[in-house]
Amino acid sequence: MKALTSAELRQMYLEFFASKGHAIIPSASLIPENDPTVLFTTAGMHPLVPYLLGEKHPEGKRLANVQKCVRTGDIDEVGDASHCTFFEMLGNWSLGDYFKEEAIAYSFEFLTSPEWLGIEKDRLYFTCFAGDEDAPKDIESAQHWMSHGVDESHIYFLGKKHNWWGPAGMTGPCGPDTEMFIDTGLPACGPDCSPACSCGKYLEIWNDVFMQYNKTADGRFEPLAQKNVDTGMGLDRTICILQGKKSVYDTDVFTGVLARIAELSGKGYGDDPDTTRAFRIIADHVRCATFILGDEKGVTPSNVDQGYVLRRLIRRAVRYALRLGIPEQSLQHVARAVIAQYCEVYPELSRNENRIITELNLEEERFSRTIRQGLREFEKLQSRLTGKIIDGASAFRLYDTFGFPIEFTLELAHENGLEGDTKGFEEAFKKHQEVSGAGAEQRFKGGLADTTEETARLHTATHLLHAALRKVLGNEVEQRGSNITAERLRFDFSFPRKMEEHEIREVERLVNEAIEAGVDVVCEEMSVEEAKKQGAIGLFESKYGNIVKVYSVPGYSKEICGGPHASNTAELGRFEIVKEQSSSAGVRRIKAVLHEK
Ligand code: ALA
Repeated sequence: MKALTSAELRQMYLEFFASKGHAIIPSASLIPENDPTVLFTTAGMHPLVPYLLGEKHPEGKRLANVQKCVRTGDIDEVGDASHCTFFEMLGNWSLGDYFKEEAIAYSFEFLTSPEWLGIEKDRLYFTCFAGDEDAPKDIESAQHWMSHGVDESHIYFLGKKHNWWGPAGMTGPCGPDTEMFIDTGLPACGPDCSPACSCGKYLEIWNDVFMQYNKTADGRFEPLAQKNVDTGMGLDRTICILQGKKSVYDTDVFTGVLARIAELSGKGYGDDPDTTRAFRIIADHVRCATFILGDEKGVTPSNVDQGYVLRRLIRRAVRYALRLGIPEQSLQHVARAVIAQYCEVYPELSRNENRIITELNLEEERFSRTIRQGLREFEKLQSRLTGKIIDGASAFRLYDTFGFPIEFTLELAHENGLEGDTKGFEEAFKKHQEVSGAGAEQRFKGGLADTTEETARLHTATHLLHAALRKVLGNEVEQRGSNITAERLRFDFSFPRKMEEHEIREVERLVNEAIEAGVDVVCEEMSVEEAKKQGAIGLFESKYGNIVKVYSVPGYSKEICGGPHASNTAELGRFEIVKEQSSSAGVRRIKAVLHEK
């Protein structure tokens, strides 16, 4: 077996398939085209779907490449030995050309020939499709493996769950597959241990899919006119085996990245299990974020789709960086190490380096403010705790008032030997939606906190707007209604006539002035009386009892309110009034948005 570096494996794989008449095609973008059902390219076949369905490919019928892929389904597993959100897939394809016999012969030769990887045949295990109502048992594949000298005892027949691949999205090409596993040398977990189990003894390194079906929207598998082969070998996993390492993070692809994290944190990768996990999470998430930001169709952090996944990756990396004591604004240095590692193979990373670094810094800045405050509040909450359960209302308050993501509260609770009441949190959240009337317009998803951050900024802008209106139009201005979505604010207020253009501009200017001043938003709890005494505006009939929360932007606004808000006005960007209109008699309505600075 050859202890190849990642660069050598890439090159060797492509060389092998070129020698078998395959055209080498470039890696496609991470952002798929024409497939709204998936956010990222998850396999090498993904960009090739039209050709697998019969379209002619300009490079011919035999193709091979190294494809960058993102799969975030297992994001919570990242930190163990083998899970990553970004990975490279080595793949070869036959578009209606060769089928099972040659595909298996190529795989076997590349894996075992001393000229190529030189893995001992006896360390390899194989699985084939057991058959069901959609397709017959794949005896043919098993026979092909055996024709190369594989012992029958190394071949397993498994069902659809294990030996069927695709489609990548909801519909499209798919079929039975045969998978190749390596015996890692770990002891069997029991008498039934097989490649079907995940105990770690058998590690899948390559998958040959025989794509001869098209899954239709109504769930049927109709035979394709053309029989294809689609294969995928995980680059990180394979070098992990070839280099005799226990984890993909111990291979050369991560050496530079982990060294950079060690420099920044002053800690060692293997110091203790928690530190190791934090190093791995930072390394994985920053690598993935760097590839997403550096893609030619690169997206930037946002609250929807790919941008949301990106935001979540960056923010999780920030959290673990803070935990290691890494100074703020440091992810850029980790990203630079990723770029250095990969830029020869993926030159787009160098071309887009500025965007990668700028966006990482911006997102880190936005988030570190939120997180610092949230962690402090969590500690306060913990010190007040008598039992072992963080109740839903308290978790909700962290989220609602400080924008602290619920998954962080749950994780922190777990680390401190506490439990979080997720159900109670959801109930508190629902109740809040009903009370605030924001209901249907806010999306309640796993990572809902981020949507709230957008709304929190708009909420703070609403307070500034309210104060500015009173300044420009007079104190007869009173709030009549407020409605905020992730995109815009809408504010209704008492005023008898249309606003003049210059008044609108002046209100806008005042709000932007407060934003530019970069003032910390302060939240205090006090009695209604005290709030009145301090000149707070807002709805005095409290929904929360006699003690109310008062949010102030000192020098600009003081208002009774339930939150949540931005922690500093600088987070708001730039404020713009997009509409001023009548709402009802004596009530005007303003719609306004925030732009990124
Ligand atoms: N498309 C197949 C996979 O991802 C090769 O495993």
